Amino acid sequence: MPDEVLIVGGGLIGSSIAWRLARKGAQVTIADAGNLGGEASPAGAGMLSPRAEFDKPSVWLDLGIESMRLYPSFVEELRTETGIDTDFRMFAPEEGIVDPAALLRALRCACESRMVRIVREHVTTVHPRKYGAVVIAAGAWSDKIRVTGHVLPAVIPIKGHLIGFQLEPGALGPVRRRGDTYVLQRSNGFLVAGSNEQDIGFDRTVDAAICEDIHRRAAQLFPPLKHATPVKRWIGFRPRSATGEPHIGRVAGTNVWLAYGHYRNGILLTPVTAKRIAAEIL
Ligand code: GLY
Repeated sequence: MPDEVLIVGGGLIGSSIAWRLARKGAQVTIADAGNLGGEASPAGAGMLSPRAEFDKPSVWLDLGIESMRLYPSFVEELRTETGIDTDFRMFAPEEGIVDPAALLRALRCACESRMVRIVREHVTTVHPRKYGAVVIAAGAWSDKIRVTGHVLPAVIPIKGHLIGFQLEPGALGPVRRRGDTYVLQRSNGFLVAGSNEQDIGFDRTVDAAICEDIHRRAAQLFPPLKHATPVKRWIGFRPRSATGEPHIGRVAGTNVWLAYGHYRNGILLTPVTAKRIAAEIL
């Protein structure tokens, strides 16, 4: 068991690693610049579809399928510990949805009850020798953190827009998807439609024309949206690594672990990332 574990970034990835470690008795601190997972985590739609995202064999597909298999027990353990329902539903063995905001709330609650120390701090520099282990899980901001003795692999923000509608619960049924367009609905009726991609840095503007385009595309998939009015429009930054593959694992010969670069799949890959990183550290 290492001494204190510092996790930089308290989104779904960082919080789930913290929870997994704390359950085994590790002493864990999460440092997060904002409101613990205020960035990519709640910005996602929560679509869990490895076979729709990846049509060819790849590391992504393998991770996605493994993570999908872990999802039912992951959310059930969280619900047992916290009482929070994450609105996880599976329409097929490898096809489901989850509410990312509820998942984040549950993880935060689980971390707090497991005595994870949570500090609101914009970490710019980390000295790994001060800790038993350090995990970098700061999404699209990860490579901005200076870790003495290391150069972290580059990551860039890929901006995406989503729009939300309030509809009758159950109006949609399973997720619908064609190309870059998808629609899914939470149990409370809130329907999310996405998305697009822009490589334009950390620009937080919500672009009305892009939202209208998503609305038009979503209405082709689900015609009742044609005359519906969005009640919410928002953006998020997917963290895409320079290699195009996620960084999940130890920096060789060090006590530094990387858990970022999940690009379009952070929510899907949360359980498998937490399992792998926590197991290696422990
Ligand atoms: N995973 C879907 C998206 O990033 O838009």
